[in-house]
Amino acid sequence: MLKLGIIGTNWITGQFIAAAEETQQYTLTAVYSRHEDTARKFAEDNHHPEVALFTDLNKFWASSAFDTVYIASPNSLHGPQAVAAIKAGKNVIVEKPMVASTSQLHQLTDALAAHPDAFLFEAARHLYEPNFAMVRDFARQREISGATLVYMKYSSRYDAYLAGKEPNVFTTRFAGGALMDLGVYVVYAALDWFGVPQHAQYVPSMLASGVDGSGCLHLDYADFGVNLIFGKTTQSYLPSEIYSGKQTLVLDAPESITSIKLRGGADDRELAGPQDDNPMVREASFFAKAIATNDTQARDKQFALAKQVHELMISVRMAAGIHFPADDE
Ligand SMILES: NC(=O)c1ccc[n+]([C@@H]2O[C@H](COP(=O)([O-])OP(=O)(O)OC[C@H]3O[C@@H](n4cnc5c(N)ncnc54)[C@H](OP(=O)(O)O)[C@@H]3O)[C@@H](O)[C@H]2O)c1
Repeated sequence: MLKLGIIGTNWITGQFIAAAEETQQYTLTAVYSRHEDTARKFAEDNHHPEVALFTDLNKFWASSAFDTVYIASPNSLHGPQAVAAIKAGKNVIVEKPMVASTSQLHQLTDALAAHPDAFLFEAARHLYEPNFAMVRDFARQREISGATLVYMKYSSRYDAYLAGKEPNVFTTRFAGGALMDLGVYVVYAALDWFGVPQHAQYVPSMLASGVDGSGCLHLDYADFGVNLIFGKTTQSYLPSEIYSGKQTLVLDAPESITSIKLRGGADDRELAGPQDDNPMVREASFFAKAIATNDTQARDKQFALAKQVHELMISVRMAAGIHFPADDE
């Protein structure tokens, strides 16, 4: 049984704890928050009033109350907190995006190299969905002619941004913006399904705060192109499509996929299976199994993909002129 400590007390952490405990491989044992009242209320709300509470990160890392940490803090803190966790001998599950800059990626890679027993996974939950795997099989077995993947959701924090507030996810300080928040899902999908492109170019629509509100990322492969469209300032109802000659695989979304249809042939039946109630159970189960069986091959395969994703995201972001304070660390 993994003893789980958490950083970040918003709803996503509650959802991860519920998923982790549903697998029966984890139990919540430690909560870190900047505020003791928040930590206590979070522990109580998540049915674990008995857990160890921390407001000091150094004491949290030094504690033996937990062996595995789930990190769901603002984006720019993920990399440094993951490095601290590795150095403290913890297993790490870090929310997307795992890092916010080249130096954070290097520091994380170096920490992992110095601690070869450490387990780190980026919580790219869609990679573990059966429907995502079905699309992967299609993309890897067919000759691909191109794709358009769309993920645009009106952010629950955008009204606050428009009202003059500074929600973390719309700031450069916390490495926010469309590419970092939602683009990461489609970049993962593209690299998992089609591999690393030869060339990539990002055209963002910028907000006054210095982050991208939305954007189009074009990926060039040897024989085809892939267009990724994502954003946080409007809502899109477009499907995503993967083209293979005269046939098109039509998905209702590039993550949390609930519909997959192959159009352009005689049979356009629904291919998708049902979605899990909690979309984080599969990843939690995968991470626990890899840790329990010391499956370093699975760990390294997932990290290699994560590294490709972040190298691409960092390079297209910087080429598009989007600068984060984390770039200067
Ligand atoms: N996988 C998914 O489906 C999914 C969904 C949503 C979000 N996420 C990821 O989860 C992470 C957290 O997202 P969120 O929307 O919950 O972020 P958030 O509300 O900005 O912050 C998350 C937590 O970090 C702490 N925090 C807030 N501001 C901080 C600051 N200025 N300095 C240090 N800590 C601060 C807070 O915990 P305390 O007050 O207790 O310290 C807060 O609960 C993001 O990286 C996001 O990408 C993933």
